Amino acid sequence: MVRPRQNLHSASCKGGLQKLVGHMTQAHDRLLIIDFGSQVTQLIARRLRELNVYCEIHPFNKIDGAFLAAFAPKAVILSGGPASVYNAGAPMPPDGVFDLGVPILGICYGQQVMMHVLGGHVEGGHGTAEFGRAYVTPAAAQLDLLEGWFTQGDEQVWMSHGDHVSSIAPGFEVYGTSPNAPFAITADVKRRFYAVQFHPEVHHTPKGAQLYANFVRMAGFKGDWTMGAYRAEAIAKIRAQVGDGKVICGLSGGVDSSVAAVLIHEAIGAQLTCVFVDHGLLRLGEAEQVVSMFRDTYNIPLIHADESALFLGALEGVSDPEVKRKTIGRLFIDVFQKHAHAVGGAKFLAQGTLYPDVIESVSFSGGPSVTIKSHHNVGGLPEKMGLKLVEPLRELFKDEVRALGRELGLPASFIGRHPFPGPGLAIRCPGEITTEKLDILRRADAVYIDQIRKHGLYDEIWQAFAAILPMKTVGVMGDGRTYDFALALRAVTSVDGMTADYYPFTHDFLGETATRIINEVKGINRVFYDCTSKPPGTIELE
Ligand code: XMP
Repeated sequence: MVRPRQNLHSASCKGGLQKLVGHMTQAHDRLLIIDFGSQVTQLIARRLRELNVYCEIHPFNKIDGAFLAAFAPKAVILSGGPASVYNAGAPMPPDGVFDLGVPILGICYGQQVMMHVLGGHVEGGHGTAEFGRAYVTPAAAQLDLLEGWFTQGDEQVWMSHGDHVSSIAPGFEVYGTSPNAPFAITADVKRRFYAVQFHPEVHHTPKGAQLYANFVRMAGFKGDWTMGAYRAEAIAKIRAQVGDGKVICGLSGGVDSSVAAVLIHEAIGAQLTCVFVDHGLLRLGEAEQVVSMFRDTYNIPLIHADESALFLGALEGVSDPEVKRKTIGRLFIDVFQKHAHAVGGAKFLAQGTLYPDVIESVSFSGGPSVTIKSHHNVGGLPEKMGLKLVEPLRELFKDEVRALGRELGLPASFIGRHPFPGPGLAIRCPGEITTEKLDILRRADAVYIDQIRKHGLYDEIWQAFAAILPMKTVGVMGDGRTYDFALALRAVTSVDGMTADYYPFTHDFLGETATRIINEVKGINRVFYDCTSKPPGTIELE
């Protein structure tokens, strides 16, 4: 079941294309990714950003000639997608894209649409569809796009296509073939148009990153998208936007809002006030750490709103997970507003919105043709409070935010922290929440995480935490009977939290951890390890 999210501190963004075009990144070489709806379009952007190339993803049906002129890409990539070029209303690239005079790389559907528009032919897959691993054999000619390829024979690639190109457009030549894709790699070298049937952006194409590196090198990218450069530009942009206005920033203790706050503080100093709403559902020592880091280390004006009594009071007797989330979300907005008003005269609200929250995705699922992925967190707050948004991270992926955090001097241990949900321990305490349970959970979770760190496993794990179960079990300690709470331990690996595998701890580790928790945490006498993956489980228990 998909549960509504409450990421209380980073927020939704409905910014139109214009907001992105002509942004601060004008100074950088820009690559345009035209999205035709592939599941892996974001990975193309990731691969390019890893090469220090600034790129943006835009849906094919949201851009036109005027956009292309304003964006002035130095190169274009046409993504994959689920459609067939010969279907009525098939997605097409905007007019003029092939006249820009810049290198273009078509991937999968991008290849097919390129051939279709430029005079080649595409056929339905009947019997020749190719999904999964395939091997590409080089054709006789050399191609600069393929530097470093075929050094040891055929190259493994990842295919996922029903249709395939049956004749290539005039000017193109074949540079690689696979058993079911005679035109696996084609190019019109003169016009610098390249087209591949496979997906170089996925890890199953081991030399895919090399192919992208070759493409951007040939296109003349300088690799000028670095977090050092971004820091300076972002600071200039924040100053220009904010002037001498006051900015409020909701701080959660998470990486995104913290990096945003430190960056904004570097730009405008004491014009920034952070509001840290402590809902009483944080981990052991977490509130103190946040307060000390921001107040003492960074000297950032900080309101520590300890509202735990209010939140825990409202949650008394509540055991339904959705009611918990809604209660916390509603109170959070009220409380944040109250404290932000107390600052007086603020004109801006800072949020740690990231690029994946901003990217508009193409949908072929029968719903509206374009959906905006938005995490409604402090939903509606800016409008309600009449504040303008400052979102200095809205062009960054999560790993870039971490790199920026390192650039700003945030401690590595802080930057690498596992994600923590907005509703905090409330959803790690299935059933009714009591201060007694929260206290036990905090101490047990701290021992568990300490174990993981001591064994050097923290960075291998996407997320690890303990949850206190709504049941007591009988045990025996020393000569006495115990009747205490049971604890579930959870640890998963994941790339994005959408799917996850449970982490395969050794039995020794599990045994040692259970013993430590039971010995060190009064109130727990039994420990379970959750070995459910997602799906069918979810990462959190509620
Ligand atoms: P699930 O449990 O849905 O979690 O597999 C996926 C990721 O989302 C986090 N999560 C939340 N984050 N508000 C949040 O800000 C929420 O209500 C919430 N629920 C789950 C979870 O910690 C994991 O990283």
